Amino acid sequence: MLRFHGDAEVAPGLVDLAVNVRQEAPPSWLTGPIAASLAHLGRYPDPAEATAAIARRHGRPPQEVLLTAGAAQAFTLLGPALRPRRAVVVHPQFTEPEAALLTAGHEVTRVVLRESDGFELAGAEIPETTDLVVIGNPTNPTSVLHPAAGIAAFAREGRVTVVDEAFADTVPGEPESLAGNRALPGLLVIRSLTKTWGLAGLRIGYVLGPAEVIDRLREHAPLWSVSTPALAAAIACASARAVDMERAIATRLAVDRAHLVAALEGAGVRVAGRPASSFVLIRVAGGERVRIALREHGFAVRRGETFPGLGPDWLRIAVRDTATSDAFVAVLSNVLGGSTC
Ligand SMILES: Cc1ncc(COP(=O)(O)O)c(C=O)c1O
Repeated sequence: MLRFHGDAEVAPGLVDLAVNVRQEAPPSWLTGPIAASLAHLGRYPDPAEATAAIARRHGRPPQEVLLTAGAAQAFTLLGPALRPRRAVVVHPQFTEPEAALLTAGHEVTRVVLRESDGFELAGAEIPETTDLVVIGNPTNPTSVLHPAAGIAAFAREGRVTVVDEAFADTVPGEPESLAGNRALPGLLVIRSLTKTWGLAGLRIGYVLGPAEVIDRLREHAPLWSVSTPALAAAIACASARAVDMERAIATRLAVDRAHLVAALEGAGVRVAGRPASSFVLIRVAGGERVRIALREHGFAVRRGETFPGLGPDWLRIAVRDTATSDAFVAVLSNVLGGSTC
């Protein structure tokens, strides 16, 4: 079930609370360049300009950037390029990194964070022999934002530390991001432009890290995998205007998330950890029955049991506008009929 994702929960006619992609249409300064790029589809894509733009945005040289067809493609490069002998994935988290490592023939050791610790890093032990560790920040599905220092402590010579920052831009000012950190040995940061900018269908993301590690990943990347429209999006999303708008979107999101959390807690629903991203994780008794009943009442939510460390009583809910959240919590309260845990 590692290859199950939120999009499989969605169906026509359902309110989508299962996929964490922002639903508002992308702004015209973004769709304009994407549309204009269609005039150049006869040429093979050249990533140089977009690579330089992303590098500038994170204060790094272009040699430290690899553009990918979404963050998801970056995970498929880790095994073939790095050939880890002992890979560790910190769960619960997005399952594609582990799935990709298994597909590439690597064994994966799981380090599972506990609910009793609020899914925080407290006490997480990474075996010393680990040469590849993967962690998400903020983490899908727990929405927990780990301190950058806690993740930085994983990094050492002889190990590649991969931080999946696909949702980093959902946190105002990105205080715990390591994207600009060039000092830590073997640090790779994977970013996505598909979430905040509503570009899941376009496929654009990137990896930041030491030039020699980026070179190894590049050798395994499929030729021309990032299309010309995706490159146009990367350039637009790297602009100062985009970074300002990201922050405004994240600030608004925090208000909407606080509203959702208050409504859930007001209905007696337990919310996991301290949510910091565009989704929250809840625990309800009879989770499978609740999820199916929610579907019957028009709401698709993301099941929890496909995430290592969680089970069917966990459900992940996307943060939407307050009216949608209120409608959802009203339905959830009815479905639960007092049976929260
Ligand atoms: C934590 C996390 N990382 C990466 C991805 C993949 O993102 P992209 O659309 O850029 O491939 C997802 C998609 O759901 C995700 O949840």
